[in-house]
Amino acid sequence: MNRIDAATLADLAAEANLAPSVHNTQPARWMLDEDGCILLAADLSRHLSVGDPTGRDMGLSCGAALEGMVMALAACGIGVAIEDLWADNILDWRPGYRLAARLTLAGAAMPTELAGWTTKRFTWRARFLPAAPEQITRLEHWVAETADVKRASGHEDLAFIAALNDRASLSIMREKSFRDELVAWMRLSPTHPAYAFDGLNLAALQMGRLEGALAEHVLASPLFDIADRLGLGKSLVAEAGKTITAAACLLFHRPESESAIVSGQAFYRFWLGFTRLGFAGWPMAVLADLPAASEAMRQRFPLPPGHRLINVLRVGPAPSTVPKYRLPARDLVLNGKPD
Ligand SMILES: Cc1cc2nc3c(=O)[nH]c(=O)nc-3n(C[C@H](O)[C@H](O)[C@H](O)COP(=O)(O)O)c2cc1C
Repeated sequence: MNRIDAATLADLAAEANLAPSVHNTQPARWMLDEDGCILLAADLSRHLSVGDPTGRDMGLSCGAALEGMVMALAACGIGVAIEDLWADNILDWRPGYRLAARLTLAGAAMPTELAGWTTKRFTWRARFLPAAPEQITRLEHWVAETADVKRASGHEDLAFIAALNDRASLSIMREKSFRDELVAWMRLSPTHPAYAFDGLNLAALQMGRLEGALAEHVLASPLFDIADRLGLGKSLVAEAGKTITAAACLLFHRPESESAIVSGQAFYRFWLGFTRLGFAGWPMAVLADLPAASEAMRQRFPLPPGHRLINVLRVGPAPSTVPKYRLPARDLVLNGKPD
């Protein structure tokens, strides 16, 4: 049987950690057990207790990292059998962690084509460039053959989604506790010690230094409520002018009963799938997470029975790329004994 050592696990963990994660919290941690299995656990110190009370986004983020690990192992020719432990909610394995999955090394595997796109995928939070007609045709064909994706395009549908996203975002941003948690994961000054490592920094948010300083000040203080009472709240969170420049919005949906880990694995494959076609993506998780918004989406864009909306992504060509801001590999692996 294949066995991997601690140094190799750290390299694989860094590859896996190129996956998207909510607010760039990077909750996935990896460990080798005494049988040579790879364990995946969620680091609960990176859970968003206000924005993600059920831990679903944390599970999706761990699932995406798991898919990254499976691809990284396959690139080394190693196959795995996955035991999904998310539903068991195992919190007593090690203080501060939720055990998510066990991977048993199982024979040989072929590298997947999607693995070549992990370094090219990124979140683009600004206006998109117009897509060429042949690029749009490629996207349409891909969506047509992809069971868990529905495409919304054309001015009316994009304007509907853009307005709903702004309304839903404002309703959650009105909660001070949500804003405080968001600001805690924002790195709005290049001097922030975690600027290059996690959370949302100026480059990821496409903000200048002044804009960043202003955003931090407004979001973290009663200024937001004052501006909101003056009718300015919407313009503080408005993304509609950018949303409308997308070539399409992609509704990603999965079976309702599916574990967040499995949905997260599929989410990463979905994102890499359109990256391959030359599109960048920008999620609007609020359209899936806020029940009223998700219901409004479902009314307008019916999903297959028994499926739930996982996320909605604006997609289009981006004028430039965004670098990866990630934790060092050594922070992603746990050693045998609790610290
Ligand atoms: C479950 C989930 C939900 C997300 N929701 C949003 C969102 O609502 N808005 C957003 O701008 N990015 C969202 N993202 C993208 C992450 O912020 C992004 O993946 C992370 O910052 C890392 O950056 P990268 O995608 O450029 O590698 C989400 C990612 C995941 C996995």
